[in-house]
Amino acid sequence: MANSSVFYRSASPYPVAVRGAGSYLWDESGKRYLDAASGALVCNLGHGLTRIAEAMAAQARTLQYVHGSQFSSAIYERYAERLSQLAGGGYRFWACSGGSEAVESAIKLARQWQVERGESGRFKVIARMPSYHGASLGALASSGMGSRRALYTPLLREEAFPKIPAPDPALPGLQDAAQLEAEVERQGEDRVAAFLAETVVGAADPALAPAEGYFQEIAAICRRHGLLYIADEVMCGMGRCGQPMAFSRYGVRPDVVVLGKGLAAGYAPLAGILVKEEIFAELMAGSGRFTHGYTYSGHPVSLAAGEAVLDILWEEELFGRAGVLGARLEQGLRQIGDPRVLKLRREGLMLGLVLGDPESAGPFPRPGLAARVGRAAMERGLIVYPGSGAADGTRGDHLLLGPPFNATEGEIDLICELLQSSLAATA
Ligand SMILES: Cc1ncc(COP(=O)(O)O)c(C=O)c1O
Repeated sequence: MANSSVFYRSASPYPVAVRGAGSYLWDESGKRYLDAASGALVCNLGHGLTRIAEAMAAQARTLQYVHGSQFSSAIYERYAERLSQLAGGGYRFWACSGGSEAVESAIKLARQWQVERGESGRFKVIARMPSYHGASLGALASSGMGSRRALYTPLLREEAFPKIPAPDPALPGLQDAAQLEAEVERQGEDRVAAFLAETVVGAADPALAPAEGYFQEIAAICRRHGLLYIADEVMCGMGRCGQPMAFSRYGVRPDVVVLGKGLAAGYAPLAGILVKEEIFAELMAGSGRFTHGYTYSGHPVSLAAGEAVLDILWEEELFGRAGVLGARLEQGLRQIGDPRVLKLRREGLMLGLVLGDPESAGPFPRPGLAARVGRAAMERGLIVYPGSGAADGTRGDHLLLGPPFNATEGEIDLICELLQSSLAATA
């Protein structure tokens, strides 16, 4: 570490990765790691696929960059159409490079759309607690994740991002959704631009999904009060929950869908928002432009990676396989029998283990168990995604698992075995 020039994320030493293939990564010492978290639920097709690398290289040789204020590109046109179809059709795709950028885009779009409709008093985006929408200041302000926000609160415009509680799956969906209507009334309908929610919560409270009826009611409330309904599917979308878009299970059609992570499966930075055709049309008929953009929006090489990912997802029937593997992983995890696993949640191939005190059936007084299990897992050559703070912003430990959709059954079983031993080794 002392003779490195890298600004690491933390003081703990990192292994240096040199190669990836399938569900595994190798570090420079030759140690192998089974990637049960696909990075952070990104590498949905595993590592080292030459077909994607070749599609990117071919795109780079043909057209590597155009600026979004000057050109569209053939790959952008093609990919946007395919992605819109994947979401049920009737969407326009705005591409950028990461989930936080995409969330910022959705927030700014909501504001601009309201202004163009003559609703210039509307700017607030109601979001939920817990939730995670990104690290940039707007996305962080909209996030309900105490552990990642605390240091930066003086920079966050809290009044622009009121929060309602994330749904409790044990409660009727309608009852939970009614909290949005109450909040719109509290804030004043003429001040609220949008509602932002992860369809299935990821990093902040893993694999938390609402009861039936919740999102239908959310969509109805948004319509009634003139709000854009923004579904953040950066983590739970693109097949992670067993179907192309997580929202489709709830029979709703969000106005804006935020995508990232699995879009290009870690082969290139790619994210963006799908925006209903009518909203795009209103903007174009109004001011004629979206007053927003990044230098790398719609990067052709990232889009080529995204297109190759789509081809593989379809050809190898991986949307369906995610659910099958998820069921196997759930079954294996249920055998672990560690009493500190208080809850096990699963949506497709996204699994959340809520850890806590078996006596109180609540969180331990201080967080840290998940991080310790994560370290024990790394020692054993297993990568998981630990987190904390779901209980009250600080307390609460959890693990998120999301192996690649093309992992083998043997690898799924090995994840359970290694996780069991990591939990057993952690006090
Ligand atoms: C649901 C959700 N939204 C947004 C983001 C932010 O994405 P990024 O880290 O690519 O900026 C994340 C990242 O974990 C996420 O899980």
